[in-house]
Amino acid sequence: MTSAAITGWGKCLPPATVTNDDLATFLDTSDDWITSRTGMKERRISHVGVSELAYVAASRALAAANMNAKDLELVVLASCTFDSMLPNASSKVQYKLGAKNAACYDLNTACTGFMYALSTANALIKTGVVKNAVVIGAETMSQPIPWMDRSLSVLFGDGAAAWVLEASEDGSGILAERLGCIAEARDILAIDYGFTPPGEPRNDLCHWNFQGQDIFKKAVNAMAKASIDVLKEAGLKPSDVDLCVPHQANKRIIDAVAKKVGIPAERAFVNVHRYGNISSATVPVAVVEALEENRMTPGAYVLMPAFGAGLTWSATLMKWGDRTLPYRQSDVELPPCSDSGLELIHKIMADRGEPLPTKP
Ligand code: UT7
Repeated sequence: MTSAAITGWGKCLPPATVTNDDLATFLDTSDDWITSRTGMKERRISHVGVSELAYVAASRALAAANMNAKDLELVVLASCTFDSMLPNASSKVQYKLGAKNAACYDLNTACTGFMYALSTANALIKTGVVKNAVVIGAETMSQPIPWMDRSLSVLFGDGAAAWVLEASEDGSGILAERLGCIAEARDILAIDYGFTPPGEPRNDLCHWNFQGQDIFKKAVNAMAKASIDVLKEAGLKPSDVDLCVPHQANKRIIDAVAKKVGIPAERAFVNVHRYGNISSATVPVAVVEALEENRMTPGAYVLMPAFGAGLTWSATLMKWGDRTLPYRQSDVELPPCSDSGLELIHKIMADRGEPLPTKP
């Protein structure tokens, strides 16, 4: 039976970094609070837009798969911070890659975006519509963040990762998946932007509704249930899972999900300390790092639960293929950045006409 094997992978993290201590220079917060409540230590701030991060990640994934861009048939870009709504941002990635034979579409389910994008590309490959695809999760969360709100600005970061999928008969790829949405809770994680219906107040990119504790509980329950369901469908036990790579929103959420599903802590991959929550890019970046750190073995069973605004949720169970090393490295790089993370935050605030932050 044809499946969609993952044959290439690449990440792109912008170089400018903001540590917890950097944030404490202008917010009433501390390294202690952020570390103990979230597990986060630092995050990246991008000096380029989402499509540039996506292009670099996709170039690296194509090189890892040893695939020529002209042979690519589909580009799917998941994000909730697109730098272009019309035309879609994936068309810019297609153009920059020189993948002129590829269809392209954007997809937004917030932090679950990559998992939903993976699901659609997998289905298009299995049904023979396309033979291959590059699926990308890319975010510049630094753009809509209200930087002076400590309950939000410590949580998110920027970055991207991409996977190449190819039709295969080797039995690797997605084995089982669940996708869903708790739409009655859609207002507990929301940013007011998009087109405003007549008579409603003007949209404001920096106005967030964010009820952290409620999201936390719903996320843990939804991810754990979906994980148990996909394991059951595949006829596997929690002890069969070689690596769990969950959405990286909070170390405490990761621990709670692993405990509920019955996966030992040492089999849950965590990199939230390095990047914070990069929304749709968390799981693909974490899988790339699991490969780089030799934590992905040939034939490994990998469980990937996620949740995001909507509240969308998902769990995806995949079997890794035989290869854990890239065929080649790409020489594509981001343009250089001379600004520090704090300087980039100041620029974002200045562009919005906000006063520059001062020490609390
Ligand atoms: O991927 C989707 C998006 N991610 C999420 O939705 C994350 C889900 N939620 C969470 O991870 C957690 O709820 C948070 C990390 C957001 C918050 O952790 P918490 O343990 O639920 O803290 P809390 O919101 O209950 O706040 C506790 C206290 C409050 O002070 P009082 O009212 O107890 O005096 C907050 O004002 O911590 C205060 N606080 C902070 N203090 C220092 C909130 N943010 C900060 C901060 N530094 N950055």
